[in-house]
Amino acid sequence: MQTGNDRTVVVTGGAGFIGSHIVAMLVREGWRVTVVDDLSGGDRANLPTGVPLIIRDIADPALLPVFGEGAFDAVIHCAAQTSVPHSVADPAYDRQVNLGGTENIVHCAKETGVGRFVFFSSGGAVYGDTTARADEMTLPAPLSPYGVHKLAAEGYVALSGLSYAILRPANVYGPRQRAGTDGGVIATFVDRLARGESLHINGDGEQVRDFVYVADVAAAVRAALSWNHSGLWNVASGAETTVNDLARQVGEALGVVPTVAYGPARAGDVRISRLSNERITRQGRWRPEYTLAQGLAAMVAARAAADVKVAD
Ligand SMILES: NC(=O)c1ccc[n+]([C@@H]2O[C@H](COP(=O)([O-])OP(=O)(O)OC[C@H]3O[C@@H](n4cnc5c(N)ncnc54)[C@H](O)[C@@H]3O)[C@@H](O)[C@H]2O)c1
Repeated sequence: MQTGNDRTVVVTGGAGFIGSHIVAMLVREGWRVTVVDDLSGGDRANLPTGVPLIIRDIADPALLPVFGEGAFDAVIHCAAQTSVPHSVADPAYDRQVNLGGTENIVHCAKETGVGRFVFFSSGGAVYGDTTARADEMTLPAPLSPYGVHKLAAEGYVALSGLSYAILRPANVYGPRQRAGTDGGVIATFVDRLARGESLHINGDGEQVRDFVYVADVAAAVRAALSWNHSGLWNVASGAETTVNDLARQVGEALGVVPTVAYGPARAGDVRISRLSNERITRQGRWRPEYTLAQGLAAMVAARAAADVKVAD
């Protein structure tokens, strides 16, 4: 069993949205954390003070000596090219980062005797459209190069001989998520409504998503470190929300009624993403703690607290 108590862990992509929440959780729990991130999408300011940051591409072979020196007990591999539209526009780059980069991180972990490997795949992108709730036995049917490369990268992790946990998170949201074209839908909605702007929805808004709060995802990493067997787990709230309903709920969290404009659907986007969380909840060490309303309230409160800090 991997727990904190001065154990060492490297978090790739630790300066990003999800990675930075995982780093904060691991530091709180006594792990000695090192971050590898090229800052292409992350920000050093997301890291707790004192956490070493190695600014390097995950596909760089020069990471091997870094892993050798660190003698890490565990790896949490979060770094990725995360934009579905970018993967459609430039599949070769997506392959280089999401497949080549993962292959390199797996290689570094194997060569240096890492005890536990946690890989961030993607529930939404790997299954594609899901008429019934996708569980881990559902045949993957990715609709974008991002999904194809995440799925192939899972294969490298599974073949590695390492003790591993592959996590397939649903749509993750929470504080520090980027807004805008490369950002998450919830961060974008919160940002626009907080500034008194209207919302733009790609498609008719009847797309179905499973939104899972980032603190729940960090807790799933804690769980994945705490059991020894290798496998694949969805990390999902199990609740289904349309984008139209989301717009209404974000409005409620901010106390406004949104004005919505509709545009064309985005290339590569999944229409219906429904995920089962039965396998991971059956493990007995994880279940989602946040409803969408609670997560939105926490996100709005964190945003207000950050505004006060800036004003200070
Ligand atoms: N956000 C979601 O809804 C969601 C859902 C399912 C899976 N995921 C997966 O979770 C992980 C984290 O996603 P996120 O939402 O925090 O995204 P993010 O963009 O905030 O974080 C990714 C981090 O990886 C870093 N990075 C990108 N390319 C790199 C490279 N070549 N070398 C080193 N570092 C690099 C970025 O600088 C960034 O800090 C990703 O693997 C993503 O595919 C995210």
